[in-house]
Amino acid sequence: MYDYYLGGKDNYEIDREAAERIIGQSPDILDSARANRAFLLRAVRTVVASGIRQIIDIGTGIPTSPNTHEVAREIAPDTRVVYIDNDPIVAAHADAKLTSTPGTHFALADTRGPAEILAHPAVRDNIDFTEPVALLLVAVLHFVSDAEDPAGIIATLTEPMASASHLVISHGTLDFHGPDEVADEVYRKSTAELSLRRHAEILPFFDGFTLLEPGLVRAPLWRPDGPPPEAGALGHVGIYGGVGRKD
Ligand SMILES: C[S@@+](CC[C@H](N)C(=O)[O-])C[C@H]1O[C@@H](n2cnc3c(N)ncnc32)[C@H](O)[C@@H]1O
Repeated sequence: MYDYYLGGKDNYEIDREAAERIIGQSPDILDSARANRAFLLRAVRTVVASGIRQIIDIGTGIPTSPNTHEVAREIAPDTRVVYIDNDPIVAAHADAKLTSTPGTHFALADTRGPAEILAHPAVRDNIDFTEPVALLLVAVLHFVSDAEDPAGIIATLTEPMASASHLVISHGTLDFHGPDEVADEVYRKSTAELSLRRHAEILPFFDGFTLLEPGLVRAPLWRPDGPPPEAGALGHVGIYGGVGRKD
C-alpha cells in the first residue's frame, strides 16, 4: 500500500484496492507518505555527511528508488546498510533490488524482537558497534503498540551503539486532525490498527540522544531542501520526523 501511495509499481491488486479505500477515507495519506519518504532521504544524507558509514534501516519497505544505500553511497560509497523488514514480500524484492550491491544486506526480522535483530548474522557480521551507527526507524514505530513497548525496543537496539550514533525516527500522528475527524467513525476505523502518537509520546523515544536542529517536527519542516513550507500549506500531513545523536 505504501508503495502505491508513493506512486511505485511494486504492488498488487489487493494492495491497490485497500490503499484506494484508505485514500477515500483520509486523502492526506498521500502527502504524508511522500513527506515521510523525502524526510528519510534528507535524514540519511545528514547522518552520512556527519561521518556515519553504517546504517541499520528497520521497516525498510518495498524498495523505492532512491533507497537508503543509494542516497548514502552518493556521499560515501563505502557506507554499509543492513535492511530489516518483517514482511516476506519485502524480503523477495530486497533480493532483487537491495542486496545486489556489495555492502548492502537484508534480514527478515521483526522490530518487536530487538535482541534477535542484534544477534542476526546480517547485523553481527556487517555492523561494527565500536563505531557510530545510524538506526533508522522510519514510519515503522506506529505499527508497534504501547503494550509492545516501543521505548524498550529502542533502548535495547541502541544500547550497544557507540556514542555519536544517530537515531532517525518518523512517526504517524493525529495531532493535525481536528477532534471531529478523529472522532469520525470511518476515520477511526482506517487508523485503528495504527498506534498514531502525539508529539509528547514520541519525544521520549529519543531518551539518551540529543535531537539535532530543528528537533522533532512535522516531516516537511525537518531541514527542507528549499525554503520551509508555510505551516498552513502542510494541510493534514500527519508525520513527525527527528534525528538524535547518542550522548
Ligand atoms: C510505511 S513502510 C516504511 C518504509 C520506509 N521505512 C519508509 O519510510 O519509506 C513500513 C514498513 O515497516 C514494515 N513493518 C511493519 N511492522 C514491522 C515490524 N514489526 N517489524 C519490522 N518491520 C515492520 C512493513 O512491512 C513496511 O515495509
